[in-house]
Amino acid sequence: MDFSEIVEAEGHLVDSQILANIMDRVIECGAVYEVQDFSLGRTNDEFSKLRLRVIAPSREVLVKTLEELVELGCYQAHIRDAVLRPAPLNSVVPDDFYSTTNHRTFVRLNGNWTEVGNQRMDGVIIVRQEETGATATCRKLRDIREGDQIVCGAQGIRIQPEFKARDRMGFAFMANDISSERRAETAVRKVAQLMRMIKSEGGRIVFVAGPVVIHTGGTAAFSQIIRKGFVDALLAGNAIAVHDIEHTLYGTSLGVDLERGIPIEEGHKNHMRAINTINRYGSIKGAVEAGVLRSGVMYECVKHNVPFVLAGSIRDDGPLPDTMMDLIQAQEAYAKQIAGAQMVICLSSMLHSIGVGNMTPSWVKMVCVDINPAVVTKLSDRGSQQTVGIVTDVGTFLNLLAQELWG
Ligand SMILES: NC(=O)c1ccc[n+]([C@@H]2O[C@H](COP(=O)([O-])OP(=O)(O)OC[C@H]3O[C@@H](n4cnc5c(N)ncnc54)[C@H](O)[C@@H]3O)[C@@H](O)[C@H]2O)c1
Repeated sequence: MDFSEIVEAEGHLVDSQILANIMDRVIECGAVYEVQDFSLGRTNDEFSKLRLRVIAPSREVLVKTLEELVELGCYQAHIRDAVLRPAPLNSVVPDDFYSTTNHRTFVRLNGNWTEVGNQRMDGVIIVRQEETGATATCRKLRDIREGDQIVCGAQGIRIQPEFKARDRMGFAFMANDISSERRAETAVRKVAQLMRMIKSEGGRIVFVAGPVVIHTGGTAAFSQIIRKGFVDALLAGNAIAVHDIEHTLYGTSLGVDLERGIPIEEGHKNHMRAINTINRYGSIKGAVEAGVLRSGVMYECVKHNVPFVLAGSIRDDGPLPDTMMDLIQAQEAYAKQIAGAQMVICLSSMLHSIGVGNMTPSWVKMVCVDINPAVVTKLSDRGSQQTVGIVTDVGTFLNLLAQELWG
């Protein structure tokens, strides 16, 4: 066992279980460790510090182990600059490229730790030498151009995993925890507190929503939340807009009369009539300006200048003229709205919630409301570990949230 390297890590390593994860990961990779130094943070704010020698039976195992430890916040003690290699072709990177996580990341360039911009998971890092110094940025593979300098391997990369910091609002306490129905009310109260705090500090809250919001009677509460300025952007698909407009124009959602809870005759046609009406006015905004669309979620967005992005899918009827069927354009429009957000609240859309989870850095607070606990688990497993799951009916959630915000 001749191949070894010393790594260091600091943070809330014990109570966030990062220390145990580091040790487990070394063993899983087929290496062993020797703790050279460990100092436990003495207060709830103070970081713990770890210095660990990783010893592997071969160079390959050592390299793999070091790569795996990067995402737990370990970096090599004998710090060297990150390895850069040029992209051989457009959209193609060297085989040993470093694949990004959603955690805050730094790369060592010219002897300095440089923070990576546009952090997101499943990207690569490109480095540019500017007059003011080197910059590092996350890029999607499709945006790589031949000759771009790509960060490769695990050397000179440092990640700050999100610790379960002692969050005053108890948000972190709830993190990775899927609230059952019984606990939903407490969770809603904490979400409302956090929303108020973020807005009072001028922060951004982005909502992601599926059509179930309309089917379950959440329209009035969600409209009020938009009207009162708690929504800085709405990221959704074709369906919520279609059914919201159907509900406003005909009182039904997917043909079901929401007042009486029963399907109405010919009701299945209503969502097509809604699309037809919007087509006539060229866009949702056009229908609002013409005075045809006078209430509902989409109306409130237009009236209060809340940007919305409707990303298309294979399931879409119509689609509405506002729905972006070019998915690269839609992904980019989503990412633009997520940039700088402090909080993302996902309401009952597995597709769009997971899509947004992939684009959102781990320091952004994320809440996922879904009737199915598996959706929240899926979001966490994909890497969005900061997600707080609230397992409940979304209409009930929105009504409780509106009550908490103004009750
Ligand atoms: N007519 C149309 O154009 C049309 C209709 C439906 C969907 N779509 C499109 O298909 C794509 C996927 O649609 P989606 O996001 O609705 O589906 P999805 O399957 O990705 O997500 C729906 C989620 O809602 C949850 N859910 C169901 N009932 C709930 C309740 N009462 N409370 C809380 N959560 C509940 C489910 O567990 C599921 O996770 C979207 O792009 C959408 O716009 C289009």
